Amino acid sequence: MVIIRAAYVDQRGPASSIRFGELPDPVAAPGEVLVRVAATAVNRVDTFVRSGAYHTPIPLPLVLGRDLVGEVADPGASGLAPGTRVWTNSLGYGGRQGASAELACVPADRLYRLPDGVDPLDAVAVLHPAATAYTGLVHHARMRSGETLFVAGGNGAVGTCLIRIAKDLGVRVIAAARGSRNTEYCAELGADAVIDSTAADPVAALRGAAPRGVDVYCDTTGRDSLRSAVDALADRGRVLVMAGLANAQGDDSFDVGRLYTHDRSVVGFAISLATTAELAEAAAWINRRLPRDGLRLDTTVLPLAQARAAHEDVEAAARGESRRYRGRIVLRVGPGL
Ligand SMILES: NC(=O)c1ccc[n+]([C@@H]2O[C@H](COP(=O)([O-])OP(=O)(O)OC[C@H]3O[C@@H](n4cnc5c(N)ncnc54)[C@H](OP(=O)(O)O)[C@@H]3O)[C@@H](O)[C@H]2O)c1
Repeated sequence: MVIIRAAYVDQRGPASSIRFGELPDPVAAPGEVLVRVAATAVNRVDTFVRSGAYHTPIPLPLVLGRDLVGEVADPGASGLAPGTRVWTNSLGYGGRQGASAELACVPADRLYRLPDGVDPLDAVAVLHPAATAYTGLVHHARMRSGETLFVAGGNGAVGTCLIRIAKDLGVRVIAAARGSRNTEYCAELGADAVIDSTAADPVAALRGAAPRGVDVYCDTTGRDSLRSAVDALADRGRVLVMAGLANAQGDDSFDVGRLYTHDRSVVGFAISLATTAELAEAAAWINRRLPRDGLRLDTTVLPLAQARAAHEDVEAAARGESRRYRGRIVLRVGPGL
């Protein structure tokens, strides 16, 4: 029996339960492609699946992680040539094993080619936030050319991708971030107006930048109150909800009349529920953009053996504590592509 090295858990539990060790090599089922993994990324949602905070069917032991870049080891019936550079961003939930192993089985309809010339470590860092931003903006908020988007947390991974997609769609973007370094970054990404959310009155600043209201309001920080988001909308505007924990915004009751009398709506979504058709459409956008500018994010690369430290760091950041690593964490698994 061939043995692979993997980062996995035997049961749902804390980051301290993550093991780095050997597992039997995976066997591809019909419709799957066996991929030799070069790198994976660590997302906040991976910590939720690992801890059990996000309920989804998983095999045990569970190999962690949803994103990978790698090369085809055994194409099965996919028609891909062995050695083809590929990526996926939907493993490790919904009954599927994860990505943090030397070999992974990927359903052929969740596997996409990695464009020539693209750095696999740059690519793997952006797969999850980019697909999240695309499906949120296009499939759920139904954002259209000529509309106005407000992004809170525009400098974050999802915020960065929202700004890039919105500009591709011909949308006017107002981005908020903490401090001048971050607002300048949002402007470099193409934001038409920026708001320093540490400034005295960011709500008044948004009203000044969009006097008739915004068409889509997306808070990636999970801290804005729903009431102020609804009040910032134009008629027919949509609040796109994708982040935040219960009661993080405090008492958030609002007058429902301010919603329905303006044709406004509140739309929540989770990328984990995206269909394969929606994921493929997001993948097509990602693959058009990757060769252009790499969709680069600030990234730290660690060896796979550091998976536990990576999960601890992502959880520390979510608690507002200082981090050991900068930006998105990528785990190098095998040799480069
Ligand atoms: N619904 C879905 O399908 C889905 C998919 C992916 C991600 N998410 C969620 O989306 C959120 C953002 O993800 P991400 O990858 O973009 O995270 P990220 O890269 O860490 O960005 C987080 C953003 O929030 C800001 N922020 C953090 N703490 C804050 C605070 N106390 N007050 C104000 N702003 C604060 C950060 O600002 P600083 O840089 O100044 O700290 C940054 O702009 C996460 O909650 C994630 O779980 C949801």
